Order: sequence, then C-alpha cells, then structure tokens
Amino acid sequence: MTCFPVLFGRRSHSSARLDPDIEEEFSGLPHVRLYTYKELRTATEDFSPVNKIGEGGFGSVYKGQLKGGKVAAIKVLSAESRQGVREFLTEIKVISEIEHENLVKLYGCCVEGNHRILVYNYLENNSLAQNLIGRRHSSIQFNWRMRTRICIGVARGIAFLHEEVRPHIVHRDIKASNILLDKDLTPKISDFGLAKLIPANMTHVSTRVAGTIGYLAPEYAIGGKLTRKADIYSFGVLLVEIVSGRCNTNTQLPTEEQYILERTWDLYERKELVELVDESLNGEFDAEEACRFLKIGLLCTQDDPKVRPLMSSVVYMLTGRMRVDERNIAKPALISDFMDLKVRKKPVSRIDMHTQASSSSASYNQDTTFSSTVSTPATATFTARYDQSM
Ligand SMILES: Nc1ncnc2c1ncn2[C@@H]1O[C@H](COP(=O)(O)OP(=O)(O)O)[C@@H](O)[C@H]1O
Ligand SMILES: [Mg+2]
Repeated sequence: MTCFPVLFGRRSHSSARLDPDIEEEFSGLPHVRLYTYKELRTATEDFSPVNKIGEGGFGSVYKGQLKGGKVAAIKVLSAESRQGVREFLTEIKVISEIEHENLVKLYGCCVEGNHRILVYNYLENNSLAQNLIGRRHSSIQFNWRMRTRICIGVARGIAFLHEEVRPHIVHRDIKASNILLDKDLTPKISDFGLAKLIPANMTHVSTRVAGTIGYLAPEYAIGGKLTRKADIYSFGVLLVEIVSGRCNTNTQLPTEEQYILERTWDLYERKELVELVDESLNGEFDAEEACRFLKIGLLCTQDDPKVRPLMSSVVYMLTGRMRVDERNIAKPALISDFMDLKVRKKPVSRIDMHTQASSSSASYNQDTTFSSTVSTPATATFTARYDQSM
C-alpha cells in the first residue's frame, strides 16, 4: 500500500471497510487519499503529545510519519466537529483541487465515524508567527531579501485564491501562523477553504494567538461584510509585520505604539516610515523598497474596502512593476478603537460572530453560521454577508 495520495480509482485496502456511500463520494476526489483512523493513529504514535505541533481554532495539529516514511501535518478537527461526510468531502474536494507554489498541499483526510482529520504536507520551518513576528530567539535570521521573497510569495498565493480559482476563495484568516515555511523558506499559506468544514457553533477565526483580532478588517469584524477585501486588509497587516518584525498588537509598548497600523500611519505622516523597519536587520535593507512595502500595507488597510488594491495589483506593486500611488494612501481602518471601547464597557471574554452566506471557501450560494470565542475581553455580535462584487 502506498502512502502517497492515490490517483483516481486507487484505494487503500483499509478504506474498503468504510461505508460504500463514502467510497462512492470519494471516487469524485482524484487527488485525495482517504486515510483510516488507525493509520493516522500509528503515524502520530496514538496522537502523542510529544508529536503535537500546535493547536488552533480548528483543533490540534500533530506531526506524523505515514507508512512509507512521508512526514505529514495531521490536523484533527475538534470533537464538536460533527459535519456530515458529504458536506465534509464537498469542501475537501474544493481544497484538494487547488495547487500553487505558495499554498499548502492537502494530502488527504480521514472521515471515519466522528473523526474529521486533514492530512497536509508537513512544512519543516514552522510558521512566520513562530519564527519572525515578535520572536527574537528563532534560529532563522530573516534578512531583507528573504522577507521580500516571503511577502511576494504570500501575495501571489492570495492572488491565486482570489483571482484564479473559480469560484474564488476568500481565505478569511490570513495571519502569521497561517504562513508556513518550507525547508527553503518558501512561504505556503495554510487553512484556505477550511471555514466550511466547521459546523455552525464553532470558530472560524483562530483566536489563540494574541493579536489575531488585529488582522480583521473592521467592516468584516464589526459590520460583517465579507469580501476579498477583508483578506487584502489582513495581508496589509501581515506585510507591515514582516517588514517590522513585530506583532500587530503589543500592549507592552508605549500606548501610541501598541497597534501597528496606528504606528505606521503616524510614521507615514511624519515621513519617518523607515523607523518601523526591523532593528534586527541592523540597517541592512533597501530603505526605498522597505518604505514602498509599508506604503502598500497602508493601501491594503484603508478604511474604504473599495479602494484597497486587488491582490494581483499588490503583487505588481511589491515587485516594482506597478507604481504605488501615494495619492491613494489614506488613514488605515482600525478595529482597535472599537475594541478598546468594548473592553471598557463590558469585560466579558466572548465574541459571537454569526455569518450568513459564505465563508472562506466562497461558494456563492451556500450559507454558513458560526460563532467564535476569542481571547479578547469584549462582546459583539457580527453578521457577515458575502459580497460577490468585491
Ligand atoms: N502543514 C504544517 N506543517 C507544519 N506545521 C504546521 C502545519 N500546519 C499547522 N502547523 C503548525 O500547527 C500550528 C497550529 O495550526 P492551526 O491549527 O492551523 O492553528 P493556527 O493557524 O491558529 O496557529 C500552526 O501554528 C503551525 O505551527
Ligand atoms: Mg492555521
């Protein structure tokens, strides 16, 4: 038995024990391998804590060695996840058909009983959150060239999801921990298309990493308006994080520096943007290019979603093939003021989000409702709707 994803018609003999309906459903997924629970249990040494590499809003992630030696990241969706097999496989189909240099590859899944497990290509160098953003003790030193390559790669991955996949995909959770790095430090975006795998009462936005809220476009977080422009906003925040090497929210800093976008805008107005560039680069960077990247970050995070550039334009601007028109730069949209207000008014630790119509996998006609518990002391109810025009 092979441990590589099966091609159409090939089956693991162990999967033959599964419901014939699942088998049939599965025959429509030529690029995905169906794993048995036993296989994945063996791969992770019974889901041993030693092999656990992380935990997010969707569940726990384990490193595992599949039969044949291939190493995988095995994402066990949380116990509450009781989505039907059919719905689950429908979403798996969407994810499995997507291939791009800057997107994490799905090897396969397990749908035995109540188990819903995703098996991904394992990325050796973990995530940007672990290695770059706000970390000073990573073994990897990200020089300026590496950073530009990462920014451009991530932009290309999002542009692909937004503009080339049909129907297009809104990721909805672009953040540093969803940017994984392979052995060559090529960035790979993870968790695209996942929102539909999560049932109504579960989170879509992982909130365990402090500052996640800082990536959310206010019109989405507060107004519930979900478009590709919400991802572009999150990308803008991430771009500034990569250039500055700091997390979007850092309450240890003086008040005026705590929120990265506020700080960026302030420095932009004072024509001192270069101050924001990561000190750990020791001045070894292209200042003109770094300031251009920060300005693109400001363009992406503008208050009016309509004037945020499309990701393909962002790629052109990052690579210098399109000019950054400073006349379009305006004060960024900030959720921080709103959150502050809520913190003072109501110190409760839960945010409920209700969305209708669309989630990250942006199939236009499907409705999703979910709620999200975040580690932010505030309460708010959000209603999201998907707007195809943006
Ligand atoms: N394919 C993968 N390869 C290597 N590490 C991974 C992979 N997928 C996830 N991880 C690790 O597991 C952690 C948890 O992932 P996840 O459940 O998606 O939560 P989050 O994205 O909120 O951190 C990630 O931060 C990352 O460190
Ligand atoms: Mg993730």
